[in-house]
Amino acid sequence: MWYISTRGTAPRVDFEGALCSGYAPDGGLYIPEELPQLDRETLGRWSSLSYPSLVKELCSLFIGPELIPREDLNGLIDRAFSRFRSRDVVHLQKLKHGLSVLELWHGVTYAFKDLSLSCTAQFLQYFLEKRGKHVTIVVGTSGDTGSAAIESVQGAKNVDIIVLLPKGRCSKIQELQMTTVLKENVHVFAVEGNSDELDEPIKAMFADAAFVQEHNLMSLNSINWSRVLVQMAHHFFAYFQCSPSLDTHPLSPVEVVVPSGAGGNLAAGYLAQKMGLPIRLVAAVNHNDIIHRTIKHGDFSLSQAVQPTLASAMDIQVPYNMERIFWLLSGSNSQVTRALMEQFERTQGVHLPKELHSKLSEAVTSVSVSDEAITRAMGRCWDENQYLLCPHSAVAVSYHYQQMDGLQPRKKKQRPRCGHTQKTARKDATCNLTRSLRHWHLDLRHPTSGTRREYISIF
Ligand SMILES: Cc1ncc(COP(=O)(O)O)c(C=O)c1O
Repeated sequence: MWYISTRGTAPRVDFEGALCSGYAPDGGLYIPEELPQLDRETLGRWSSLSYPSLVKELCSLFIGPELIPREDLNGLIDRAFSRFRSRDVVHLQKLKHGLSVLELWHGVTYAFKDLSLSCTAQFLQYFLEKRGKHVTIVVGTSGDTGSAAIESVQGAKNVDIIVLLPKGRCSKIQELQMTTVLKENVHVFAVEGNSDELDEPIKAMFADAAFVQEHNLMSLNSINWSRVLVQMAHHFFAYFQCSPSLDTHPLSPVEVVVPSGAGGNLAAGYLAQKMGLPIRLVAAVNHNDIIHRTIKHGDFSLSQAVQPTLASAMDIQVPYNMERIFWLLSGSNSQVTRALMEQFERTQGVHLPKELHSKLSEAVTSVSVSDEAITRAMGRCWDENQYLLCPHSAVAVSYHYQQMDGLQPRKKKQRPRCGHTQKTARKDATCNLTRSLRHWHLDLRHPTSGTRREYISIF
């Protein structure tokens, strides 16, 4: 399997090359040259697999055995998930009124990033050991990526990791997760400014190719193909768990609602769809709505500024993974993708060509959710199910409630729908939830307030 750049002017690389690169040298993102197509038989076989087994099957399609023999690949993935709190690794929770939520947060740092980062770190160490090489990972974080990246490589002898966190802006739990790992290869710095500001010197550093090469630097955010690859498994697992039957012709669709920021999970879902998985994708965003505007109106343009919201990890202005989606939609046309992205970079905004926009809106629908709707969804989900959502997951669940409330009663049970839950609400506790809990006190004056007290004391 070869990987090419979405912008078409960088040499193709194998999985190891894509894993160790981040951006391609022409500024594009790596993507498989060809996507494997899955027939019904394969989908049928995969439908009864556990989540770790699904990850193994999927990764084996994209990482040739000449790079990582299958037995080694299985061992690496088992090791990646060995520290998860749940043996199933990912769990699907069925809630009332046709809502299912996919719990992606049973990893060490309680965030969905543990899934792809733990596998990615194992793949990386495998190649580094084989080649006798060392890398330094540099990560800027608003809280979650830093802690998951640290956990995934702490103690690894061929890797050092440097994390910059925005001083005073992460939740206490996030900060402690990053600052209490006392391994010699972990170096954490609190810096002044917000997470966008701390990204600037990191971007500038990665733009200095000679410096990057001299010090063997790499990044681990979701521009990295390996992270997107592992995240594709969420969509397969969600589908198999929610689909009523695999015996129908054609297969019945499941709607997967993806809380989106940089679009990594969304791109993973679209890749799964292109491989033959019959999912309908909904991109659920907060007030930072560039993905929503792009899908609805073809308006891929920056807003004036990032707006702080309760779903803070999705307060993202540039959803860089949309580039992978544009490339796929354009029929692997790197000229079209390059022109689009270069114009976007020059003018901070571009209108999608008509054909591309109509393909996009056929493949993905979207919703933008306010802070008020986030807190309402958290409250309603608790009231109906005694199930606690984090604000990011509530962005997706809010879409479900909007759809429910808009449907006629007799149709209410119709379409299976699965929202991704990205992290446990506990992790947001000290920072984000204090704000939303205040709303809850105002909004949810529930007569049996004992329930709520018990709920709040979870933190
Ligand atoms: C908790 C949480 N939810 C959702 C997202 C958005 O993910 P993506 O970049 O895949 O769109 C992030 C991204 O950082 C996140 O941390």
